[in-house]
Amino acid sequence: MTEEIKLGLTCDMHVHVRDGKMCELVAPTIRDGGVSIAYIMPNLQPPITTIEQVRQYKSKLQELCPKTTFLMSFYLSSKLTPDLVQKAAQEKLIQGIKCYPAGVTTNSADSNVDPNDFSQFYPLFEVMQRERLILNLHGEKPSSEHDDINVLNAESKFLPALLKLHADFPNLKIVLEHATTKDAIDTINKINDGITDPSKVRVVGSITVHHLWITVDDWAGNPLNFCKPVAKLPSDKNALIQAATSGKPWFIFGSDSAPHPVDNKSKHTGVSAGIFTQQYALTYLAQVFEKYDSLDKLSDFVSKFSLQFYNVDQSLIQSPTDNIVLYKHKHKVDTKLVSKDGQITVIPFMPGHELNWDVKF
Ligand code: NCD
Ligand code: DOR
Ligand code: ZN
Ligand code: ZN
Repeated sequence: MTEEIKLGLTCDMHVHVRDGKMCELVAPTIRDGGVSIAYIMPNLQPPITTIEQVRQYKSKLQELCPKTTFLMSFYLSSKLTPDLVQKAAQEKLIQGIKCYPAGVTTNSADSNVDPNDFSQFYPLFEVMQRERLILNLHGEKPSSEHDDINVLNAESKFLPALLKLHADFPNLKIVLEHATTKDAIDTINKINDGITDPSKVRVVGSITVHHLWITVDDWAGNPLNFCKPVAKLPSDKNALIQAATSGKPWFIFGSDSAPHPVDNKSKHTGVSAGIFTQQYALTYLAQVFEKYDSLDKLSDFVSKFSLQFYNVDQSLIQSPTDNIVLYKHKHKVDTKLVSKDGQITVIPFMPGHELNWDVKF
């Protein structure tokens, strides 16, 4: 029986580390959770839309965590211009742009993004396609009683918009972030049908670890497990597990670890969406891959396929010799993560749960 597994240069292509004291608390947990390279989300307040903001944020992160590689992103909004995007790409300051349809999740209210009509951003997408930047899509339609859209079908209803973007920009690299439905998995498989050369892949789905564990029953009644997109049905979860363990290069790991102060997770209304998985990211993943007898597929899912698709520039990698090792070691998820001054508490995913694996560098 395998006791140690080498995972290579591990990547988590969807990470929220926030700013201020929360950032100081959670940024170091990227490495604690076994991740060497992290793609950082831009939904701060205000969102990241300038070169100066990226520079400052990245240097702050690098100071906090010298060994971690931070890949950075812009927040899609009407504030971005083609010139700005081109400059940021050519300086290798950003690797992509994250698109949040207005109103679907944390800090998305001001994005001005209407998923029914992306045409205002087409000049940006042209530059992105040329500069090989990644377009990261939060793939949900906003809820609408009139259009019968709700948290359960919001992703499925978004998929035609993904297909249109891919048709209009066939060379643009697109990630459908945090896929949660069988519909999304089927769509990504269909787009890539017949592709045998990984360098030809243009549309991938990222998959979180929590969506491999939970379904609607786990967040109905437990706000700690409430995130966007919400976890769906057991049949959806099974499709995600199949995709993650499939060995197909169009499914990659992006945890969407999204820490919120415990007070914002434990109230009656306005519960913040987001699950904090960073501290144990690869450990939680390993447990799922083990259950489905697929540990041999884990390294490609958390390393090779992301490095390929993002075409990560060697000069950006802080710890190029990292080769993360997964080893058998029973331990329990902490019940909380608390800042040194005691002011911020974050509850990790599945507090107190027993885990079978641990990671070391
Ligand atoms: C170690 C360290 O920082 O010294 N980090 C860790 O285990 N998270 C080893 C290393 O990063 O190489
Ligand atoms: O659950 C989520 N939380 N989903 C997102 O898309 C955003 C994230 C956050 O920033 O909290
Ligand atoms: Zn998102
Ligand atoms: Zn996110």
